[in-house]
Amino acid sequence: MAAQNAPLLFLAPMAGVTNTVFRRLCKNLGADVLTTEFVSAEGILHRNERTRRYIEFQPDERPVGVQLFGASPERLAEAAKAVIDWVGPDFIDLNFGCPVNKVVSRNGGSSLLKDCPLLKKVAASVVSAAGPVPVTAKIRIGWDSKTINATETARILEGEGIKRLAVHGRTKEQGYTGQADWAVISAVVSAVRIPVIGNGDLDSATIALARWKESGAAGLMIGRAAMNHPWIFREIRMALDGGASAPVVGLREKWDFILHHAELEIAWWNGVEEPAIKSMRSRLMSYTRGLPGGARLRESLQHLDSLARLREIAEEHSSAHNECA
Ligand SMILES: Cc1cc2nc3c(=O)[nH]c(=O)nc-3n(C[C@H](O)[C@H](O)[C@H](O)COP(=O)(O)O)c2cc1C
Repeated sequence: MAAQNAPLLFLAPMAGVTNTVFRRLCKNLGADVLTTEFVSAEGILHRNERTRRYIEFQPDERPVGVQLFGASPERLAEAAKAVIDWVGPDFIDLNFGCPVNKVVSRNGGSSLLKDCPLLKKVAASVVSAAGPVPVTAKIRIGWDSKTINATETARILEGEGIKRLAVHGRTKEQGYTGQADWAVISAVVSAVRIPVIGNGDLDSATIALARWKESGAAGLMIGRAAMNHPWIFREIRMALDGGASAPVVGLREKWDFILHHAELEIAWWNGVEEPAIKSMRSRLMSYTRGLPGGARLRESLQHLDSLARLREIAEEHSSAHNECA
């Protein structure tokens, strides 16, 4: 068997998490390809301020894509053109995986997995509108366990000119329960010639390497594990390189990273602390999972309102638990 090329590492798009600040932090830790969180075609076409913040990125994030969702081939095509014109991403990514009711009930996200003719039209019309800018897609393996159709969906998308496909190995019905089915991801890899990016439950370098070897995926996409532990990119990269295992992330390093994230977030909010710190609270909950004294720590973070207080909490916590670092 020919040697596999090392996979590219993708940060999964995550609404409310993967803003420009978090994406760049992950890139510094080894993520190769970044995507914005999903934005609706309508939001783009209305060009509101909120949408602009979702899709903005810095030059050092490239290659970076903007992910779009919607149900109308025409509106999505217009939105793709508008995004290209507006921020010039390296690729447009189409969301065919979102299971959230608000999106599915308007025929967006994973509902297109049940409507292959519409999915085909959406892909064709966005590919044609995007011109030379590549269009990629992200799917789930099917609507439910009785209708797993990822290979069929993948062939349709490839046929319409989609350049790369990320496959989350769960059905829409599963939401985030159960386990990602990597056997289906492997079947998609064999069914198409475009690069397939495997996604679902990659929560350690060991698992990531095993899934990559079994599936032959061209890339690995990491979501929730990166939200809790962004160092996973460095750990996977070092494991792929076959060298020494990545250094264990100590408590001080973790807090330095968290404080740096908070400072960058405040800068992104133009120096206005309150909304920045508020928006960081759920990030802090993720970062502090599994830390010693977690329950008390998380209680104090829930009401956090300033960077100064975060610095105090970091200092108190790392002094109290340094032996656990
Ligand atoms: C908080 C959150 C927000 C998400 N938002 C998006 C999104 O905007 N677009 C998308 O394609 N997938 C989204 N996802 C799904 C992830 O990209 C990914 O497919 C899923 O979490 C499985 O990967 P994991 O097991 O590595 O987390 C989201 C997931 C989470 C947990």
